[in-house]
Amino acid sequence: MFRKSNKPHKVLDDQATLHLLKYSEVGVLGTVGEDGYPYAVPLNYVYYGNKVAFHCANHGHKIDNLQYNSKVCFTVIGDHKIIPSNSTSAFTSAIVFGTAHYVENLADKKKVLDLLMDKYAPGYTNPCNDHAVANGVTIVEIDIQHISGKHGLPFNLNGEKDYKSIAIKDMKMIFGDDTRRINHALKVLSFSEEILNSENVTDQNIRTSSILSAVLHDIGIHAAEQKHGSNSGKYQEIEGPGIARPILDRMELPNEMIDRICYIIGNHHTKAKNDGLDFQILWESDLLVNIEEENITNKEKIKEIINKNFVTETGKKIAAEKYL
Ligand SMILES: [Fe+2]
Repeated sequence: MFRKSNKPHKVLDDQATLHLLKYSEVGVLGTVGEDGYPYAVPLNYVYYGNKVAFHCANHGHKIDNLQYNSKVCFTVIGDHKIIPSNSTSAFTSAIVFGTAHYVENLADKKKVLDLLMDKYAPGYTNPCNDHAVANGVTIVEIDIQHISGKHGLPFNLNGEKDYKSIAIKDMKMIFGDDTRRINHALKVLSFSEEILNSENVTDQNIRTSSILSAVLHDIGIHAAEQKHGSNSGKYQEIEGPGIARPILDRMELPNEMIDRICYIIGNHHTKAKNDGLDFQILWESDLLVNIEEENITNKEKIKEIINKNFVTETGKKIAAEKYL
């Protein structure tokens, strides 16, 4: 009965959709009248326990339509930004389908009004007395039967697709509460960006593959631990590309770029496979973080690591300033 999106890469995940529904300020209620015309009206609402509820007067267009047909549609829109340079927009939205009914019990009506006060006027008390609640306010609850969420890809201020934000979001979701791995990836990203900028790398392909490789390079680590009982580089290389590829596919990146990033992820512990500047930047950035995380303090050993592994002037400079 309820349709599936024909653009799966734009489907907003359940958690983000429910968050949007809970915290949006205004929703648009769609009803159908006896005359066949739809009526879409913006209103304030609360979301709780798989229900959306709102209050209204005892008579009016909404009530007439609900008497005729209790099936409704309810839409909320989150962050929305027009991107003129791409003739598109970045956005999030959620659509609810459900059946509406009136809340009749006085205590239940007061509860909904209190939830509305908590959402829209926290710290203030519901001004309606029991008589007004009982007789002057209609409370409508929508029992939700279907929810879907949609998003447009985030763009940066230059109108470019903000691949980095998408990758960071997905990386954090995959690592969950493993903050050590999340922080590691973000530190590697930070060094990669510093090297890219200081080395004046302007090639967008190299910048994109470096940045996304930095965010996603260790993405196979949990799968390696679960499947192979080891987080060694070899197993990370085996598992990483299969997890990174769907993330990159959803970004609608060119296939060559996806293949390149998966190649780097799938070989990022194998020096002999290092075959380009994007790979080299990840190699140096990962080492810059690992020297600290592995508590390597012997200066001679660090000098040897730098001599054997670092090529960019910026990478060498950061390593020397940080560790020598
Ligand atoms: Fe790493």
